[in-house]
Amino acid sequence: MTTFFEDDAIEAAAAALLRARYPIALTGAGLSVESGIPPFRGPGGLWTKHGEPPMNGWELFLADPELAWRKRLDPQGPMRELFERLAAARPNAGHLALVELEEMGLLRCTVTQNIDDLHRIAGQRELAEIHGNATLVRCIECAARWPREEIALDVLPPLCTHCGGLLKSDTVSFGEPIPPDVLERCQREARSADCILVAGTSATVYPAAALPIEVLQRRGTVIEVNPYDTELTGVAHVVVRGPAGDALPRIAAAARRIAGTA
Ligand code: APR
Repeated sequence: MTTFFEDDAIEAAAAALLRARYPIALTGAGLSVESGIPPFRGPGGLWTKHGEPPMNGWELFLADPELAWRKRLDPQGPMRELFERLAAARPNAGHLALVELEEMGLLRCTVTQNIDDLHRIAGQRELAEIHGNATLVRCIECAARWPREEIALDVLPPLCTHCGGLLKSDTVSFGEPIPPDVLERCQREARSADCILVAGTSATVYPAAALPIEVLQRRGTVIEVNPYDTELTGVAHVVVRGPAGDALPRIAAAARRIAGTA
């Protein structure tokens, strides 16, 4: 296995996407760093600075869903700053490059771990949000989803109008099972993929981190876009060492040039 770094890597990444029968992408918090949303781990990470949050959000929600909702809606609460950052954020050149790759037929699906809605705002059409989307609420029984603003919050916790189940933020809490519908979609995409572009993720949180391994095990190609080493760097075929907002547009431009559509 030859691993390409630096300038050769951009060309190698573009060529791998063009060669692939079914290329997909997996993105993480690093994609949104250039939109002003800090990552969790690594340099500048929220948890690097403040330590990890409690890992039992799901257990706390089930124990007292009304209290969990009150904390989430508290204008002075800890979630307020995150919500303000999410509301102010806009897609960056990295998001837009993934939309362009999809439009060129070089991405069949983007699996994102991000809950910030930026891929959707950027125009990504084939998108699987494995950790949910902060702008949606979801029924924990039937997985029906609504935009947050469509849900009446005069009575907490809100209940599903389809099945009467409890509604919660679509963002997957720590300890919460990934909703079966989106997990099955992500696993199906990874089983179909012969190439995966992994951008902006430390590749440490499962089951998302299993997706590139699934592609590797079936002798597919792994491309990594990240300014720093990750768990995947040692097994990736192509490593583009740089920020997504710079690297992804260069990969898209190289693909256009190689395909003769520049
Ligand atoms: N471009 C690309 N990658 C970047 C950039 C950038 N500009 N800046 C930082 N990175 C990389 C970091 O090097 C790191 O590898 O983004 C990655 C961010 O890693 P994490 O903070 O661990 O985020 P992520 O991998 O998405 O975390 C997975 O963990 O906390 C849970 O649910 C949360 O979805 C999240 C999951």
